[in-house]
Amino acid sequence: MKKLATVLVLILVGITLAGAQDIKIGGIGPVTGEAATFGVSTKNGMLMAVEEWNAKGGLFNGRKIKLIFEDDKGDPAEGATVYTKLIQQDGVAAIIGTVMSKVTLAGAPICQANGIPMITPTSTNEKVTLVGDYIYRACFIDPFQGTVGATFAYKDLKAKKAAAIFDIGNDYTKGLAENFKATFEKLAGKASIVAYEGHPSGATDFKAQLTKIIAAKPDVLYIPDYYNDVGLIAKQARELGFKGPMVGGDGWDSPELVKIGGDAVENGFFTNHYSPADSRPIVQDFVKKYKAKYNAEPDALAALAYDAAYIMFDAIKRAKSTKGADIRAALAKTSIDVVSGKIKFDANRNPIKSAVIIEIKDGKQAYKTTVNP
Ligand code: PHE
Repeated sequence: MKKLATVLVLILVGITLAGAQDIKIGGIGPVTGEAATFGVSTKNGMLMAVEEWNAKGGLFNGRKIKLIFEDDKGDPAEGATVYTKLIQQDGVAAIIGTVMSKVTLAGAPICQANGIPMITPTSTNEKVTLVGDYIYRACFIDPFQGTVGATFAYKDLKAKKAAAIFDIGNDYTKGLAENFKATFEKLAGKASIVAYEGHPSGATDFKAQLTKIIAAKPDVLYIPDYYNDVGLIAKQARELGFKGPMVGGDGWDSPELVKIGGDAVENGFFTNHYSPADSRPIVQDFVKKYKAKYNAEPDALAALAYDAAYIMFDAIKRAKSTKGADIRAALAKTSIDVVSGKIKFDANRNPIKSAVIIEIKDGKQAYKTTVNP
């Protein structure tokens, strides 16, 4: 009888502990605002990873993940608010997010100051992980992405003269334009960037910049921006008579791009993180599961959010701890195969990964080639 009572008490204690011991993880993405498709995909990818890990039994000692997801609206000030809320109000152990470099740059110092490990799935601006040793990313960086774009324009498209148009208020587009310019000048010579035009954030009329660009007769136009701006810029460039190819970066990756840009973005090329056409089993398995769950093809944002979650969960599992310092130390020792490639971090907490080049063909994304670092 005494024995039975002890067993019952132990079971009750066990149940109470299991219930109380969920590990809170913060997730952030721009679910509304200028890049809303980025946030929706990001949230989908993260939720799928959480469900898979919880179905396997959670992170360690049977402790499940409780994801608390916040919308940063694509705005740095809003971003800072939700990072702070997740850390101070919710007490999350780690944060997966956010998406746009300009917003992540507002959140990363908050994570660093509070000793909360953070991994951005998709912020490619070089400065992001330089904020400190708690800040990681699951994607390549823009100096690589810009080099891949410029090399493609020079070698594959045979461009001798290039122009770029970028958003002066956005770290990602400004940085990527600079990275493209540096490599293109190395390949094609000092005077090969014939026009280099910034526009203010929020602009919808780019004709003044595009008129200057077209007058300089570039062979290729580089548009390192998010899909809304890209669609409008491409359309206006065609209206003003630009006939050459247009090239861009990962910010083109949205089903909205062809809806906004129409024929103007047809035969455009952009660098990206993954292709759902990749035949590796890990990719095909992910694409199949995602399609079954969301009835949509996963874009790079979905894949990288899923990957970033896997990288963070794997680190917490190895750390067997929810302390920031322990998770950070485990992250540094990451060695994991995820959908977008094999992940190991360099000294600046960036993974070294390949890029793919995607072409817009018949209004759809077509895989063109893979470029290794
Ligand atoms: N790389 C972009 C940034 O840093 C975000 C992004 C990644 C957008 C992937 C689309 C696809 O701001």
